Amino acid sequence: MNDFKILFVDDDKQILEIIELYLKRHGYEITTSNNGFEALDLISKGSFSLVFTDLIMPEISGLDLLKSVKQINPDIDVIIVTGYGTIESAIEALKLGGYDYLQKPINFERLKILIDRIVEKRRLQLENILIKRRLKDRFSYDQIIGKSAPMQQIYEVIDRISLSNPTVLIQGESGTGKELVANVIHQNSIRKDKPFIPVNCGAISEGLLESELFGHVKGAFTGAVKDNIGLFMAADGGTLFLDEIAEVPPPVQVKLLRALQEKKIRRVGDTQEIDVNVRIIAATNKNLDKAIEQKTFRKDLYYRLNVISIKMPALREIKEDIPHLVNHFIKKFGQSTKRNVKGISPEAMDLLTGYHWPGNVRQLENVIERAFALGSGEIIDSTDLPSEIRSLQKEETRQELDFNLSANEKRLIIRALKHAKGNKAEAAKLLGINLTTVYRKLEKYRINDLLAAS
Ligand SMILES: Nc1ncnc2c1ncn2[C@@H]1O[C@H](COP(=O)(O)OP(=O)(O)OP(=O)(O)O)[C@@H](O)[C@H]1O
Ligand SMILES: [Mg+2]
Repeated sequence: MNDFKILFVDDDKQILEIIELYLKRHGYEITTSNNGFEALDLISKGSFSLVFTDLIMPEISGLDLLKSVKQINPDIDVIIVTGYGTIESAIEALKLGGYDYLQKPINFERLKILIDRIVEKRRLQLENILIKRRLKDRFSYDQIIGKSAPMQQIYEVIDRISLSNPTVLIQGESGTGKELVANVIHQNSIRKDKPFIPVNCGAISEGLLESELFGHVKGAFTGAVKDNIGLFMAADGGTLFLDEIAEVPPPVQVKLLRALQEKKIRRVGDTQEIDVNVRIIAATNKNLDKAIEQKTFRKDLYYRLNVISIKMPALREIKEDIPHLVNHFIKKFGQSTKRNVKGISPEAMDLLTGYHWPGNVRQLENVIERAFALGSGEIIDSTDLPSEIRSLQKEETRQELDFNLSANEKRLIIRALKHAKGNKAEAAKLLGINLTTVYRKLEKYRINDLLAAS
């Protein structure tokens, strides 16, 4: 295994020499130290995977060394080497997070088995991480479904920020999954055991928003009959999801900026400031650049929020994900409604992938839910879909049954022109007629006007 470094600590230099010789001969990367403090120094600077330490040493005991190693890096495995009659301490070592113990006099065979077992354990851990990554590359990340390139990029961002807590701004049309992504970011962060609190800033009246967010003290305003801790404090240690951030009125924007910069809030009516530790994820379906231009949104707040920026794709931009989403929702509603729906007909799926989805994933979810409510078969069919989606099909069928020669000719010419990206010579070739005929037909059906208008 590359990069598997071993440190062996013992106050007996002779033992160290023998061990070093033996392990080097067997291809292991080994460093030795006969002083506990020097060993700690080496550990905090180096990148050891495994530390062997003698139990009784003059400067620092093996157990204390174990504790310190685990503080420096809990991923380092520690094995205590014990002399005769100190088995109780060895057991104590296991309780403190030691991996195992090795008895003196050292049996080289057992030493090697121990090391190889840890190498194998680490290899499996790494493999698991890689498999998980690869799975994520397929079609989902927790509850988020989608394998298109824009979704993969979002998954990468979620991975990248999982260990730090940067402020995130999520932008995208309504129904694209902004809140879902905010939630998954929280669930994959070190704050996952603390609250995730969503606030719809657009749904709270201007006068109340400040006290909702920051709290108030009793008597701060009419109706403030008792102290109220506000959402910032409720989310302490966790994540506050500020949805519809563009709707926050300018006076509250100033206070938000202060909370982000100073990590302090002041309750309405209070003179004291309170420290808060809250991670902010904000979202909006409005164009914030425009709001900044129109001076309804503060530029400095925008920069504070936009540390990490996530742009949710509209569903029409990731049509390849539609079949995965459809199957996901069929499974979801199958479970919640106990209706036995096995799948969807190819025609219905075609209609769904062809539609332009102004309401994005939420609309798609609603369409499948509606099909569950209205349909009765085991397969969702075109007839279970709403008329605006089915009307795509009607257009097609109508065209197929239309025997009107000139109407079809006109349609064919338009199609050929579109296919040739407006190149008339190319269109003539596709249609199997000459260029002059194309010009004549364009004139006849007034197609130039039509194309210009579309
Ligand atoms: N990629 C996805 N995979 C699975 N479900 C999704 C996905 N995107 C959205 N959804 C589902 O669609 C619905 C709408 O998503 P969400 O509420 O996160 O959208 P939004 O962007 O916050 O919308 P709005 O701007 O209207 O608040 C939710 O039920 C959500 O679970
Ligand atoms: Mg939302």
